[in-house]
Amino acid sequence: MANQQVNGNGNVNGNVNGTGNGVNGSNNHQRFFEDFGVWKESPVLKGTTKFEPLPGVKNIMITGGAGFIACWLVRHLTLTYPDAYNIISFDKLDYCSSLNNTRTLNDKHNFTFFQGDITNPAEVVNCMERYNVDTVFHFAAQSHVDLSFGNSYSFTYTNVYGTHVMLESAKKCGITRFIHISTDEVYGEVMDDADDLVESSILAPTNPYAASKAAAEMMVHSYQKSFKLPVIIVRSNNVYGPHQFPEKIIPKFTCLLNRGQPLVLHGDGSPTRRYLFAGDAADAFDTILHKGQVGHIYNVGSYDEISNIDVCRRLLVHMGIPHETTEEFRSWVKYTHDRPFNDHRYAVDGTKLRNLGWEQKTSLEDGLKITVDWYRKFGEKWWGDITDVLTPFPTLSGLNVVSNSEAITDSPQPSGSAAETKGKVEDGVAAPAVTAA
Ligand SMILES: NC(=O)c1ccc[n+]([C@@H]2O[C@H](COP(=O)([O-])OP(=O)(O)OC[C@H]3O[C@@H](n4cnc5c(N)ncnc54)[C@H](O)[C@@H]3O)[C@@H](O)[C@H]2O)c1
Repeated sequence: MANQQVNGNGNVNGNVNGTGNGVNGSNNHQRFFEDFGVWKESPVLKGTTKFEPLPGVKNIMITGGAGFIACWLVRHLTLTYPDAYNIISFDKLDYCSSLNNTRTLNDKHNFTFFQGDITNPAEVVNCMERYNVDTVFHFAAQSHVDLSFGNSYSFTYTNVYGTHVMLESAKKCGITRFIHISTDEVYGEVMDDADDLVESSILAPTNPYAASKAAAEMMVHSYQKSFKLPVIIVRSNNVYGPHQFPEKIIPKFTCLLNRGQPLVLHGDGSPTRRYLFAGDAADAFDTILHKGQVGHIYNVGSYDEISNIDVCRRLLVHMGIPHETTEEFRSWVKYTHDRPFNDHRYAVDGTKLRNLGWEQKTSLEDGLKITVDWYRKFGEKWWGDITDVLTPFPTLSGLNVVSNSEAITDSPQPSGSAAETKGKVEDGVAAPAVTAA
């Protein structure tokens, strides 16, 4: 067995060995275990909801727990339910993760970190059996769309095969609740005049990341039907907030402005996204754990939709950088070529989850303020040197992010979205429809 565990005494058990399985054994991996104490200065951020603990739930395994969204849930559940739930954060420690995200929990009796890979059945089963896991939140994934255009095999491998391993292991270990985290991207892009999509809408992903997430859902659905595995699927909007690796637009642009460097938009900056603050996302997952019905799908929808170019404007305001004149704006906002395909917008209808009592509590203004403040203090220290991460289209080499030199201009570039050529999506090959059970 090749894993490391951190338990409630703050100790690291096990050892990083040289088995060369691609996860453990690399010297490079040791950097994840170096503790410079930066996490001690950070506020401990979590959600706000609290429910009556469920009698059948005791040991909750959260995959991807050292990554962005899951670390919010790990902190939330560990700190909100110390006497009811034990939380096991299971993570491979990939390039985008950081143990800083959960170090504040190392002295908690109900928290354990387990280094393992979801594509390794022995490690997954070992974790489930050792900690008598009854409930799984499956977040671990290759999550960055930009990377999925270049290295898409790793997306299929982690997101589809990895999910398959999680499902098979859950079946073997008698897991009583398997909550699978998907994305609004599985629906594909939504035109400006179209209605928000409900959980029974057709899936029509347009990029390899989204396709791998849709394919993973198909595996989840099949385990529900074939083996009666008690599953719930969650499809969330974009999530933002402290602890997000600065490869995604909001933390990346904040870190660039912090360095006094211009922002580089893909294409013309017109695609819009809906953004949900991570604390509200943690509340959504907490609500789904306690109130969600097995066999159902839940969209997690935000009301705050803005274009990428407006993200630039908002961040410039929050950073107190003058940008009102065309000249000023141009000096801060540049352009490079678009993604091969860039969904114009996503729009999910979150009524079903709101009917369980969940609500979006953090406005984009308040969430951005918290986020910008956090990255000003911690963005340069949390993950080590992020210089290459901040380039327009970085790539990956093992655990290292590598910069890519792209032509940058002052003018908007052609859009990779189908918004101007309506019909493209309708003509596309759609995945089989999945309906909310
Ligand atoms: N970020 C968003 O806006 C967003 C929106 C909707 C859905 N999602 C979904 O939420 C989940 C989490 O997204 P995120 O943005 O927090 O991702 P992230 O990239 O910040 O974190 C992913 C985590 O998974 C881990 N991981 C990757 N491969 C693994 C493997 N083989 N075994 C074990 N651990 C592995 C990584 O080390 C990392 O800690 C993903 O499933 C993603 O598809 C994200």
